[in-house]
Amino acid sequence: MKTQKDKFKIPQEVAYLNTAYMSPLLKSVEQIGIKAVSKKCFPYNIKVNDFFVPVEELKTLFAKLIQANTPNSIAVIPSASYGLATVSNNIRLNPDDEVLVVEDQFPSNIYTWKRLIERYKAKLKIIKSPTTNINRGKIWNQNILDSITNKTAVVALPQVHWADGTLFDLKSVREKSNQHNALLIVDGTQTVGAYPFSIKEIQPDALICASYKWLLGPYSIGLAFYGEKFNNGIPIEENWINRFNSENFAGLVNYQDIYKEGANRYSVGEVSNFILVPMAIKALEQIIEWDPQNIQNYCAEISQKSISKLNELSCFVEQEKFRGNHLFGIKLNKHINKEILKKEFEKNNVYVSFRGTFVRVSSHLFNSTEDFDKLIGCFKKAVI
Ligand SMILES: Cc1ncc(COP(=O)(O)O)c(C=O)c1O
Repeated sequence: MKTQKDKFKIPQEVAYLNTAYMSPLLKSVEQIGIKAVSKKCFPYNIKVNDFFVPVEELKTLFAKLIQANTPNSIAVIPSASYGLATVSNNIRLNPDDEVLVVEDQFPSNIYTWKRLIERYKAKLKIIKSPTTNINRGKIWNQNILDSITNKTAVVALPQVHWADGTLFDLKSVREKSNQHNALLIVDGTQTVGAYPFSIKEIQPDALICASYKWLLGPYSIGLAFYGEKFNNGIPIEENWINRFNSENFAGLVNYQDIYKEGANRYSVGEVSNFILVPMAIKALEQIIEWDPQNIQNYCAEISQKSISKLNELSCFVEQEKFRGNHLFGIKLNKHINKEILKKEFEKNNVYVSFRGTFVRVSSHLFNSTEDFDKLIGCFKKAVI
């Protein structure tokens, strides 16, 4: 696969290695967004179908991307925290039950569980990141598997760690959690779109994704898959669109007790969002055409040489098998001056994120080996 930089507006002199923070819009998505904003100048052109057809298209594309059987298992959400709240609101725990998470997980995927365990006097079990750099990812994964027991009610994990890119073996976690009747809830925000995800293969009970990173969508819209266990749950809001026969605008006050099928009940109110939905559709079409596996391969290719150079500078980067190629962390050590490094990044237009003890580097199809060369140049200047 070749660079796709021409499809974005990132200037030549900018090394934007920070899609894990926020992706740039595709030019095509920007165009659709601008058109969509103007649409409401002429409200008489917004028809009944416009409330339903684009949303269906969006859910169908997302179902295709994640290999889910039906768009009826997909809900449109405004944020990852909203999608996770839907899950936690529909879980009952016993005292002493455990919700398992990993250390320094993204806060939206922690606070909801804290609230849940407080409600039921249950326990949050945090699997710490290993202190060693040798086989760090392998050990962390093994510790997760070893910690799933009959006490585990929920395993709530990301596919890769948002700060350092550690890859979690969700298939093995699913097998182990099934043995103990524990739910598997996955936050795919830092992978889905750039790393393959298959509902068929992993069979999570829920998969939650904000769209403004690897789904290349706008901010304030996301997508979630909810499995059969949530088919009869209670949604956060009781929006009219999610009820049976809501297409019949003349009959909306024939109030309906039943929801639309499957996960549709969990979509956010005003799900038809005439601006964000068409933008998210356009972005998903492009991602499906590219295929996330090709994005992984491309990111591996452009970063490979630099990762060897970082290792020569004694900077730890997780082994390829246990990290994403699109997102990885460079662990700072005493040989690197963090303040000099920050200044060098600024001077050279290199954009990354500092997350805990890691410099998080994330790439996409608009990046190139030159961007990574610039990154390495900054590290070399910061060696003390
Ligand atoms: C792993 C992960 N989940 C979720 C989010 C976003 O959460 P929310 O949509 O609740 O703001 C982020 C943002 O950085 C993230 O890294």
